[in-house]
Amino acid sequence: MPIVVKNLTYKYMRRTPFEQEALSDVCLEIADGEFVGIIGRTGSGKSTLVQHFNGLLKPDEGSVTIDGLSATGSGLKELRRKVGVVFQFPEYQLFEETVYKDIAYGISKLGLDGAELDRRVRKAAGAVGISGAMLQKSPFELSGGQKRRAAIAGIFVMEPKFLVMDEPGSGLDPAGREEIFAYVSKLHRDFGVSVILVSHNMEDVARYAERVIVMSDGRIAMDGAPRSVFRRIDELEGMGLRPPDVLYFIRALKSLLPGIDDGILTVGQAAAELEKWLAPALARVPARAPMASAVTAQALARASVASAAVVAPASAPASEAPASAQASASAQASAKGGAGAG
Ligand SMILES: Nc1ncnc2c1ncn2[C@@H]1O[C@H](COP(=O)(O)OP(=O)(O)O)[C@@H](O)[C@H]1O
Ligand SMILES: [Mg+2]
Repeated sequence: MPIVVKNLTYKYMRRTPFEQEALSDVCLEIADGEFVGIIGRTGSGKSTLVQHFNGLLKPDEGSVTIDGLSATGSGLKELRRKVGVVFQFPEYQLFEETVYKDIAYGISKLGLDGAELDRRVRKAAGAVGISGAMLQKSPFELSGGQKRRAAIAGIFVMEPKFLVMDEPGSGLDPAGREEIFAYVSKLHRDFGVSVILVSHNMEDVARYAERVIVMSDGRIAMDGAPRSVFRRIDELEGMGLRPPDVLYFIRALKSLLPGIDDGILTVGQAAAELEKWLAPALARVPARAPMASAVTAQALARASVASAAVVAPASAPASEAPASAQASASAQASAKGGAGAG
């Protein structure tokens, strides 16, 4: 059964001069097994919304139910088992002497022990790439990314149906972010956990979410498939958001190649799409590496030069166009040839 939010309104500092409406009449359903991204500028109400999913906040108006359980009634304990929440900088909550004990903390509070506890801890640790040797270390010996994975394991060990992550990538370097999202995708894929990923980083959401909810001023402004939401660039900008650069790139190319797929979300998809369009022109570029397998800024730069060449024949005499296409594309290829991959 899903998460059902009906006409949810929430105000901070109610009945004071500082009263602030953080959510206004939000209606939403999240089905089992979904991977939903929630985006929106800072202060748009994302964290306030997801704190209702495990009863940390209670609705002022409207209702929130998870698997039919209300966040207000006696079902709160049961609800917190179903919904695991990983807050921003969860590693600050690591405090035990070993990683093992930290991961086990939540389920030992539920009364689990012995072989069953051990099995669950090792399964959760393994799912996020924490090795047996790492389990015996102090959490303080781990890297930033490892700490965060340990914190996620401490939530995943409870075997929640819904995993809510509020800005899980913040403060990590690109490799650390990548690692976290790879493991979160795995929890979703291999264990069927529903994931609700809150992020102001649209790249992360574009890459991983199957559905995107855009919050603005405490309301849901858009809700749909990533390809339909992200192509609404102007509206997103109006809400203080900047879609991934690759969307701007595709939009610019669309004036040259009107038939290009503008539902593209990642550099990899852009490269594959361009390869289709550019196959004839690129066939004439000597010693070319396959583009889709070398998905780099360099490949895209070459592709964009070649794409200009593809459309050039419309304005240039047909006999001259292939030669100029070949010349400019190969000049670009050799100029970029020694540069490192992006
Ligand atoms: N503890 C709080 N006390 C008062 N106002 C708050 C509190 N937390 C958030 N707010 C306000 O509620 C609104 C929504 O905040 P929040 O849900 O944290 O947004 P987001 O997670 O999208 O950045 C903002 O205007 C914010 O200033
Ligand atoms: Mg927030």
